[in-house]
Amino acid sequence: MAIRYDETRKVFTLQTEKSTYQMKVDGHGILLHTYFGGPADETDFSYLIVPEDHGFCGQPGDVVEDRTYSMDYYPLEYPVHGNGDYRVKALKAGWKGEVPGLDLRYDSHKIYPGKYGLPGLPAFFEAESEAAAAHRTVETLEIVLKDLYEEIYVTLYYGVFEKAGLITRAAVIENRGGKILEVKRAMSASFDFPEGDLDLIHFYGKHACERQFERRSVFHGISEIGSIRGTSSHQQNPFVILCEKAATEDFGGCWGVVLLYSGGFKIQVEKDQFDMTRLVCGLDDDEFIWELKGGERFVTPEAAVLYTDRGLTDLSQSLSAAYRKNLIRSWWKDRKRPVLVNNWEATYFNFNQEKLSGIARQASRLGLDMLVLDDGWFGKRDDDNSGLGDWKVNETKLGCSMKEMAEKVNGLGLKFGIWMEPEMVSEDSDLYRAHPDWAFQVPGRTPNRGRNQLVLDLTRKDVRDYIKTNVDHLLNNANIEYVKWDMNRSIESVGSAADPSQSQGALRHRYVLGLYEILEEFVTRHPRVLLEGCSGGGGRFDAGFLYYAPQTWCSDNTDAIERLRIQYGTSFGYPMSSVSAHVSVCPNHQNGRVTPFKTRGICAMQGAFGYELDLEKLDGEDQAEAKRQIERYQEYSDLFRNGSYYRLTSPFENSDFTAWSYVSEDKTCASLSVVYTDLHANPKGLRVKWKGLQEHGVYVLEGKEYSGKALMQGGMVLPKPECNYDSYMVIIEQKN
Ligand code: GLA
Repeated sequence: MAIRYDETRKVFTLQTEKSTYQMKVDGHGILLHTYFGGPADETDFSYLIVPEDHGFCGQPGDVVEDRTYSMDYYPLEYPVHGNGDYRVKALKAGWKGEVPGLDLRYDSHKIYPGKYGLPGLPAFFEAESEAAAAHRTVETLEIVLKDLYEEIYVTLYYGVFEKAGLITRAAVIENRGGKILEVKRAMSASFDFPEGDLDLIHFYGKHACERQFERRSVFHGISEIGSIRGTSSHQQNPFVILCEKAATEDFGGCWGVVLLYSGGFKIQVEKDQFDMTRLVCGLDDDEFIWELKGGERFVTPEAAVLYTDRGLTDLSQSLSAAYRKNLIRSWWKDRKRPVLVNNWEATYFNFNQEKLSGIARQASRLGLDMLVLDDGWFGKRDDDNSGLGDWKVNETKLGCSMKEMAEKVNGLGLKFGIWMEPEMVSEDSDLYRAHPDWAFQVPGRTPNRGRNQLVLDLTRKDVRDYIKTNVDHLLNNANIEYVKWDMNRSIESVGSAADPSQSQGALRHRYVLGLYEILEEFVTRHPRVLLEGCSGGGGRFDAGFLYYAPQTWCSDNTDAIERLRIQYGTSFGYPMSSVSAHVSVCPNHQNGRVTPFKTRGICAMQGAFGYELDLEKLDGEDQAEAKRQIERYQEYSDLFRNGSYYRLTSPFENSDFTAWSYVSEDKTCASLSVVYTDLHANPKGLRVKWKGLQEHGVYVLEGKEYSGKALMQGGMVLPKPECNYDSYMVIIEQKN
């Protein structure tokens, strides 16, 4: 049993193979959070709470004689605004026009096998094999809390994945009263830690420089990670880690917290007056008011947390395994992904059939699997100022229909894919001319533009239907086997002509719900189409999107050296199989850097591999190297997709080289990739230690035999770099 309830002591203990999580209903009916850490027994951990009469820590209204009992320092499971807790809260709600405030007490609970679902929202699920097993290892706990005074209910959902070590959470707020309930903040989860001495690791960035690793001490006060851009954003990511100060890649307690949401979000970490730490995460509550009439419910997005006491590598690997088994649904998730060439950096908008056919022919000769036609094939779209919304093929430019284009590409033995940006509209488009009210606009104001485009109002059914019909029409009429689903601006002021009364925050959330509805239908109607997420590169790289798309274009920055940091950061919270990465031309289009072709290949093979350059322009040497890269990737694609990923050095700490490795599940095969980032006269020997090998296995490395122990403890000496940004890659196989 993953979930136990001790009736006498009113203690819920959630057990996974990596962690124990505990809550207790106390004498006042308050749901306390009593433990979350390494595997423990069912001891009632409330003994760790020391009641004191602390100054300025008041009591809830019904507690009169006990001044040691205060919400302001008790560890709470779902803290609310209004009962004397002055730390960051999970929930703020109240009757419309009245003072907001709640006081939630335990009402009831249920435990059942399998995983709860969240209709309309991405959520982890119990895999078919787990559901069919005699011993079910995934269980759900629902705890219903009720306001002390009013008919307002909150159900806390817990999904416990015993094997994966993962615990998911969501909350449902329900108005069973007669008045209108205004929900002003509804977080997915809150976690109270008695520890105050923790580090926070998060991933910040900007366009073309996403998910940069930053680790800092949790300080007294509130640290906030979030996005008010309507998307999960390039600037911050809805995945953070809290860890012990001493935690490293290889040991130490780490809690990885992920929000399955592709819109604006907020994660706050507060170290309070008694040195305890609280983390809350959920929807961005900026300008958020969600009205619930009697009988209505609000469902938060799902959050998930994974604790391990074995360091950051184990955290990332365990999360990746959970994503692969229990979150990504795509038909492609366990299949070899096509090695593709995308024409964006090769041609931008300037292409015709002859150019595309040339690239396709060369792709076929080199052994690639797919041609992807990027932006510019539809409507009036020869630059990025017009055409979005008009998803009709520009046959004059393409010289044929989309069906014929796909056939030509298929005729060369390649699959065919396309780019789309369905959520957007250009003012210079037939769609906008016909339906200006379909774009978010604030009446009486010229709309803010981003990349000279407006955002479609996905809260409207007619808009969602238009998108679904257009996408279906394209996919049903041509053999399109891949779609890159792009989204190229931030969302700010959202005025909906259909419903002007809603709060900005509510509209932005309804936008994301509208997007999820469209994506759900996409994956249901076109299950074999490989869907790749994109938002100006990695502006919407989040676990919510992974539920629909097994991979996302990681960054518009294709420079191999900057990608080292971007892909390093991404690897903490997401599986490398979801990191789409391409070899592009040099000097690099984003930063002008020149790197060897070989190095660009090694970096791109870190994720879902492809090319994004004019293959026809490759010289003989690069063509030969491309062939080698593709052969290697095809041969070891299983290792790269399913192997355990190890960060061997950090590009933020080691200025000489960045190294990573993949080890197959049975540990018989492993790859090592190294990119040199500096050159030295009179150089020292550079060494790297392998990880994750079979200790007693004998591995063949460059023709010589080494024990796994030797390679992991002693390491190996790397070859000397021969030029700027040189690189090295080797695959070792176990002999015995
Ligand atoms: C975004 C994407 C790019 C490319 C362009 C096309 O920026 O991230 O890869 O598809 O749009 O306009």
